[in-house]
Amino acid sequence: MDKGQNTTSLWTVTSPQLSFPPLSADITTQVCIVGAGIAGLTTAYLLAREGTQVTVLDSGDVGGGETGRTTAHLASALDDRFTKLEKLHGVEGARLAAQSHAAAIDEIGRIVQTEGIDCDFTRLDGYLFVPPGESTDLLDQEYAAATRAGLSCDLMSRAPLNYFDTGHALCFYNQGQFHPGRYVAGLAHAIQRLGGTIHTATRVVEVKDGNPVRVVTSEGHVVTARAAVAATNTPVIDRFQIHTKQAPYRTYAIAAPIPTGDVTPALYWDTADPYHYVRLEQVDEQTMLIVGGEDHKTGQDTNRDHFRCLETWARERWPSMGRATVQWSGQVLEPVDSLAYIGRNPGEHNVYIATGDSGHGMTHGTIAGILLRDLILGRGNEWAALYDPARKRLAAAAEYLKENVNVAAQYLDWLKGSPVASPEDLRPNSAAVFTKGTHKIAAYRDSSGALHQVSAVCPHLGCLVAWNEVENTWDCPCHGSRFDIDGTVINGPAVTGLKSA
Ligand SMILES: Cc1cc2nc3c(=O)[nH]c(=O)nc-3n(C[C@H](O)[C@H](O)[C@H](O)COP(=O)(O)OP(=O)(O)OC[C@H]3O[C@@H](n4cnc5c(N)ncnc54)[C@H](O)[C@@H]3O)c2cc1C
Ligand code: FES
Repeated sequence: MDKGQNTTSLWTVTSPQLSFPPLSADITTQVCIVGAGIAGLTTAYLLAREGTQVTVLDSGDVGGGETGRTTAHLASALDDRFTKLEKLHGVEGARLAAQSHAAAIDEIGRIVQTEGIDCDFTRLDGYLFVPPGESTDLLDQEYAAATRAGLSCDLMSRAPLNYFDTGHALCFYNQGQFHPGRYVAGLAHAIQRLGGTIHTATRVVEVKDGNPVRVVTSEGHVVTARAAVAATNTPVIDRFQIHTKQAPYRTYAIAAPIPTGDVTPALYWDTADPYHYVRLEQVDEQTMLIVGGEDHKTGQDTNRDHFRCLETWARERWPSMGRATVQWSGQVLEPVDSLAYIGRNPGEHNVYIATGDSGHGMTHGTIAGILLRDLILGRGNEWAALYDPARKRLAAAAEYLKENVNVAAQYLDWLKGSPVASPEDLRPNSAAVFTKGTHKIAAYRDSSGALHQVSAVCPHLGCLVAWNEVENTWDCPCHGSRFDIDGTVINGPAVTGLKSA
């Protein structure tokens, strides 16, 4: 089980977690990268390959964040659709988005080959289809927009599935998949070989811009560097600006055995809302079907059994699928204009960020590596303006407003009562937020009957946390900070835990 989480992903089950000694002294380096997920490690690797001295710090293990919870489709076929990207970023912006994601898959392929990483990197096609009975006009429009963006794709009468007639499908050629755990472990070994250092179990609490930059850990050690990168999935260095431009969503995945040959190897995804996506993974002799989807805003659950919904959806289409043996959830950050924020942290000089990678964090994280390497080394990169964290797209104003009205509404939770009279009344395996005088208390009674109580006030900007019964964590519905039952912070933007009750 991953630290602070209740579920374990297929990648964690099938590859050991990699850790390094924590930082134990003040050090000086050229570039300090915070976060050992795909974004941080790719940035560190590409810089180290150019002879730059890099130091990577992570509060957990290598790939122990969302990179360890992905489903690892490598897609240039962006699921927010090229019709929408054209409206938000123009035809040229959509073209650059397609080109950069395709380049990211190429880069992963090159790294795998150069470093000899054994991670089952495979090229395969991807198929987009609509739910039964829905108009396929959307596929025609997407075909036209994706073609304008330069992607190689074709309309087909159905996806190549024996048991399940998808109806019309849009095929995107030359997508990919890999084992993300083994890939990032390979990156970590390569960084070390190139002279870089990695420290896990090292939490960063402050990144102070300047010349040099100072990165401070919770143990009080300071890393002094020419530049720093916050590749922490969501920046842990920004109180406000970026967090108003992206929204945290929970997303779910299951893996179940299926007879080899029953599903043609490819990536599949539909246009339902919330949508579903499917791929295969070979685990020794067993073929596993990975099914993902069921996204909803963090802390704003609909009380659905998301895993069962995924399993039911998949079994209706592939009756030969066995019982799901692994199930897990994770968090993605949805940017208001559909593309990640990668570049200089707004208002700062030597601090860079990579965030807002939505369901395309494998490619967005790799784009981050390429783009941040170029920015830090002072090279031009034609993707820089598209991904600039300071950008404002007028066409995204409605989405910006919708997400921020949603965040504002979360503060009304301060006025709400609890469904249970007092923490003492909580049944085993249940949790609720209570009012105690002027305080709000997050209380959880575990299966042994022990009561765990912490402050319910998120230290980031004061929203009240909500119980996540899948992972047994307290999640903040405003910007996605997450906390263990004892209040320890798991995910930023908060850098400190929930106070004791
Ligand atoms: C269920 C699921 C399915 C997905 N499917 C896909 C898919 O098919 N294709 C795709 O492209 N993307 C997918 N994604 C998205 C993708 O997995 C993520 O966007 C991507 O892994 C993010 O990588 P990252 O390096 O930015 O962040 P992470 O992997 O989360 O890495 C950030 C690291 O920073 C560390 N950290 C955080 N705070 C601190 C701190 N204060 N100090 C030190 N370290 C810190 C964390 O421990 C973590 O290791 C999926 C995500 C989920 C959850
Ligand atoms: S994450 Fe911003 S208020 Fe909680």
